[in-house]
Amino acid sequence: MNLIDGKAISKKILQETRAEVEALKARGHTPGLAVVLIGDDPASRSYVRSKDRTCSELGMFSQKFEMPSSTTQAELVALVQQLNQDSRIHGILVQSPPPAHIDEGAVIEAIDPRKDVDGFHPVNVAKVALGAPDAFVPCTPLGCQRLLLEAGIQTAGAHAVVLGRSMIVGKPMALLLMQKGPGGDATVTVAHSRTRDLAALCRSADILIAAIGKPEFVTADFVKEGAVVIDVGINRVLDPSAPNGSKLVGDVAFAAVAPKCKAITPVPGGVGPMTIAMLMANTVQACKRLTA
Ligand code: GUN
Repeated sequence: MNLIDGKAISKKILQETRAEVEALKARGHTPGLAVVLIGDDPASRSYVRSKDRTCSELGMFSQKFEMPSSTTQAELVALVQQLNQDSRIHGILVQSPPPAHIDEGAVIEAIDPRKDVDGFHPVNVAKVALGAPDAFVPCTPLGCQRLLLEAGIQTAGAHAVVLGRSMIVGKPMALLLMQKGPGGDATVTVAHSRTRDLAALCRSADILIAAIGKPEFVTADFVKEGAVVIDVGINRVLDPSAPNGSKLVGDVAFAAVAPKCKAITPVPGGVGPMTIAMLMANTVQACKRLTA
């Protein structure tokens, strides 16, 4: 079994991105990211803080907006419009999910697609489907694809099963894996909670992407001997033996599954750090395009 070290691979990408930031700054342009969080979900807060911190570490400009859960739709759209006009900001991210009274789709549509570094705007969703070179690709599936590439996993001709159909991970992941070219050319099946004989289907995967959002859902009977498993899950579960009473686990029951795998990502230290690295890379891209 080979452990795919997302932490080490993301470090390399961040170093490359830092060099690009320095080159842009030398030309008078500092890449800037605005991160908007509505409400006080602890997991979302922690993600938003890491994004903000990583920007600073790379010498980028960043602005963090932590808004109360009472924030109205109109206030949020007004903030997005202000950020669209702000020349210091090249990337805008609204942390998902927002509170229930917010129409997330309408907020995303308010973002200038050229600043949509999350790749959630319909224009970018369409561009990803079209395979357009200037699409902003959602950071998590982009990070998963990069992990496969960096780990030297052959995707061409492989059967890839994507477990999960979200707009943030499952759907764009399937599109990336079926695209022509490096990290693509796979035969892709999208499976989800309603799929019949889910374990048997997953067992036919050469590459299994677990993004179903259920702690340790993928057990050994879901995995073929010699498969590659990418675990997108980040689930906090109770753990009486941990100092703070909880721990993070993925969507994969790692201890039981890992011995069967050719390669697998750990949680934490797999997909998570890659998502942030790709966000930084997307923001640098946005800065390059907006200042070209
Ligand atoms: N929530 C979980 N993942 C993401 C992401 O990549 N971007 C945003 N904006 N929200 C998320």
